[in-house]
Amino acid sequence: MIVIAHLSDIHLDGGDRAAERTRAVMEYLEGLPYELDAVLVSGDIADHGRPEEYEEARKALGSRHPLLVCPGNHDDRTAFRRGLLGEERASAAPVDQVLRGEGFVLAVCDSSVPGAHRGYLEDSTIAWLDGVLADTPHEVPVLVAFHHPPVPLHIPYVDGIRQFGEERLAELAGRHPHLTAFLCGHAHTGAATSFAGRPLLAAPGVVSTTRLPWEAASGEKEYVHTDEPPAVAFHVIGEDGRLTTHYRVVVARR
Ligand SMILES: [Fe+2]
Ligand SMILES: [Fe+2]
Repeated sequence: MIVIAHLSDIHLDGGDRAAERTRAVMEYLEGLPYELDAVLVSGDIADHGRPEEYEEARKALGSRHPLLVCPGNHDDRTAFRRGLLGEERASAAPVDQVLRGEGFVLAVCDSSVPGAHRGYLEDSTIAWLDGVLADTPHEVPVLVAFHHPPVPLHIPYVDGIRQFGEERLAELAGRHPHLTAFLCGHAHTGAATSFAGRPLLAAPGVVSTTRLPWEAASGEKEYVHTDEPPAVAFHVIGEDGRLTTHYRVVVARR
């Protein structure tokens, strides 16, 4: 059994709220009597992309489990590379990373667009992902993660800044049957849908929870619930290669 914890949108900003919520989630994961195969944090690590926010993130996200992170629209690629990945001569190239675990592959793509809130996978990222899939035997399940969902989720604010150019990703998926599922963040709400015939699973937000259209009174301007607790997803791959996802709420003081 493979178990991957998936959290997203911690938006660390030097303040207590994001820090305490992130700490609560990471303490929960660290306290599990189980060695996770990976902890995935799918973007919006820093709220403003500042170097000191990545310093904070590096400390906050440390645990005994393997960690994989990708940037979101609030992140800065260069500061992310320097502060979180420890690259001294950090470039602004997309941050694409792969974890080849025991019996699975987790490929994490950078869907951020410098200076914009919408998402897009650069051609170099699509080519990189194509190579990762081609290099992986078909019996090994590959999970593909990024920040921006490549489909609308019926949340107008999020849908307007989703991942565009998604037809290239769908075309790639059609050529790689062992691409098992897509994982994303950005929505700040746990959601399950499909893309290119695969599950598309959005992690809940740690720092806040999106207000769904049918939850908002008419004229209400607030986009998020700040009183909903942080939560985390667990993606489980069984011996038969089938994926199951569980969502778990975590109690935090703020
Ligand atoms: Fe976010
Ligand atoms: Fe985002």
